[in-house]
Amino acid sequence: MPRFAVLVGCSPAIVGIRDLIDRLAASDASVLITGPSGSGKEVVADLLHQRGGRAACPFVAVNCAAVPRDLIESEIFGHQAGAFTGASHVRRGRFELADGGTLLLDEVGDMPADFQAKLLRVLETRTIERVGGTTAIPVDVRIIAATNADLSTAVKAGRFRADLFYRLAVVEIALPSLAERPEDVPLLLEHFAATIADAVRPRFAASAVAYLGCQPWPGNVRELRNFVARAAAVHPGCEIDDALAAVLLHGDRRQVDHWLSSGSSPLPMPNRRRPPPIVAAGDVIDLRALLDDFEQAYIRDALGKTAFGVAESARLLGLRRTTLVEKMRRLNIARP
Ligand SMILES: Nc1ncnc2c1ncn2[C@@H]1O[C@H](COP(=O)(O)OP(=O)(O)O)[C@@H](O)[C@H]1O
Ligand SMILES: [Mg+2]
Repeated sequence: MPRFAVLVGCSPAIVGIRDLIDRLAASDASVLITGPSGSGKEVVADLLHQRGGRAACPFVAVNCAAVPRDLIESEIFGHQAGAFTGASHVRRGRFELADGGTLLLDEVGDMPADFQAKLLRVLETRTIERVGGTTAIPVDVRIIAATNADLSTAVKAGRFRADLFYRLAVVEIALPSLAERPEDVPLLLEHFAATIADAVRPRFAASAVAYLGCQPWPGNVRELRNFVARAAAVHPGCEIDDALAAVLLHGDRRQVDHWLSSGSSPLPMPNRRRPPPIVAAGDVIDLRALLDDFEQAYIRDALGKTAFGVAESARLLGLRRTTLVEKMRRLNIARP
């Protein structure tokens, strides 16, 4: 994420959220940020931190879905040397690292039940105990939680503690999907294009902007960001019209591959031995997420075209069936 996050958009929802962030930044109230994946939850969390009185102290994020269940306690609370096999040194957890600042508990809905109880106690006592430790360590941390799951349903189903939910959701900020705010698409295209080096920066013709404004964007703003990066990689420095945008977005794989491998693109191609910089100095791009999105777009496309035929899709994608199944599991692609 760039050093200074910005929440771009002119839709009433985004304007309202920017206003809410300004009003909430100075307070220490716990905020729950909800919204589908890629809708900007981390941007909102970052802004709440940067705009508030804790900006000089650390902003620490932990993705509760990505930490293995048996490690989550030591990850968040730290551990003493010898607390368990492999714990050779004292380790400060995320709470201690965030002291004075803000801790973002991302994908908080995936937190194991026994850990939810421990977290609640920490929020109530404002002290933590490292795993294997015996002393209570005071911590001064603002908590922001984020989730793409419907936590109140999880509460009703007994998967998430109601008392923890009310502690975390003192204020809720709900980010709509990008499809629900198409008026933000032109500004976002411009914003992400501006982060790309001049020489390869794509320009979007009015026809492309109109076309892109009515796409479903299942991956939300993240998908749009990656779309702009893909446009710069495949058609560096070019004007993208609606037809090119459609191919780039819906991934006619043979067409894109043909352009990339033969250099026969109707448009100038990058020198493949030394690719042009597609990231401007100072910007940070998440290559792994970009590749995941790219892979995901092709897999979904193939599955869509084969009525979810896994074997047939694997053939279309040039993958072994088991490899495709493995990728679908990793990317969370399930039969609709
Ligand atoms: N309104 C926005 N303005 C500018 N960039 C945004 C906006 N919303 C999301 N982004 C960018 O899109 C990507 C995904 O956003 P992120 O906050 O990580 O989504 P989430 O946490 O909801 O999955 C990030 O690169 C982020 O900087
Ligand atoms: Mg996120």
